[in-house]
Amino acid sequence: MGRINGLLLGALVLLATAVSYSATAPAHDVFVKFDTAIESTVFEFYVNLFKYLYHALIKTSELLESVLKDDTIVRNNNINQTKVLFQGYIAETTERLKPPPTNMTKLDGFLCIVANIHTLNLFGDIVKRYNTTSLPTPSDEYRLIEAALKRHGLDELINNLKIRKTEFINEFLLKMDIVVTDLSEEDKIKNHKLVEWYQNYRNSTEEQRANDIFTHFAQMYARF
Ligand SMILES: *[C@@H]1O[C@H](CO)[C@@H](O)[C@H](O)[C@H]1NC(C)=O
Ligand SMILES: *[C@@H]1O[C@H](CO)[C@@H](O)[C@H](O)[C@H]1NC(C)=O
Ligand SMILES: *[C@@H]1O[C@H](CO)[C@@H](O)[C@H](O)[C@H]1NC(C)=O
Ligand SMILES: *[C@@H]1O[C@H](CO)[C@@H](O)[C@H](O)[C@H]1NC(C)=O
Repeated sequence: MGRINGLLLGALVLLATAVSYSATAPAHDVFVKFDTAIESTVFEFYVNLFKYLYHALIKTSELLESVLKDDTIVRNNNINQTKVLFQGYIAETTERLKPPPTNMTKLDGFLCIVANIHTLNLFGDIVKRYNTTSLPTPSDEYRLIEAALKRHGLDELINNLKIRKTEFINEFLLKMDIVVTDLSEEDKIKNHKLVEWYQNYRNSTEEQRANDIFTHFAQMYARF
């Protein structure tokens, strides 16, 4: 594990603790330990990623909760499987949103973000599953479920999450542009993995960047 990864893992513990206990903790309170600009910029990105995931898990879970209370869903006895699926998602997010253990190891901090990403992806699967536009012969039940999801704000939520994601990604790229340009040759070599990752990421389109943020995150840790 390279130096930057070690530092970032340390950062994850800090931010996992700080952000879980107070979702509104300002980033600058926790990244004072990061001496170089590139480290603090990446750390700030993680704080924002963590906050985003936290927010997304709460909102997606709330959406499914209100769908489960919808009249058309409550009185339908042919969609028990869907109800169980939604309840499972809500239970999993509740688990994710619990404060982390007090003596978290560095690995726990990293796994915490990975787990959050994994859970949020399950919501993506749900959205895909009940998207009747992309199904060849959607059943009445699927139409009913999709309609309930939309009535309770699915499209607005997806849109809102996309805007949030794009905002902090663009802010990150803007800062990284400056930081990487100002990097000394020595630091560029020291941080070459991060710089390469960033340049690759920089090169993708805005749409790809928003969609692939989690893939890119994983790539950054490919050596982990
Ligand atoms: C679905 O669940 C309800 C309530 O638990 C039950 O009455 C009903 O028989 C179930 N439907 C099916 C198709 O299993
Ligand atoms: C966490 O705390 C428990 C109980 O004090 C201790 O046994 C354990 O070794 C700690 N774990 C780490 C990683 O520090
Ligand atoms: C549903 O599927 C269609 C067609 O594949 C796609 O254009 C649309 O964005 C999807 N909707 C959602 C909410 O994902
Ligand atoms: C970024 O895109 C430019 C132009 O397509 C290309 O020349 C360059 O090699 C790419 N950089 C990376 C790191 O992929």
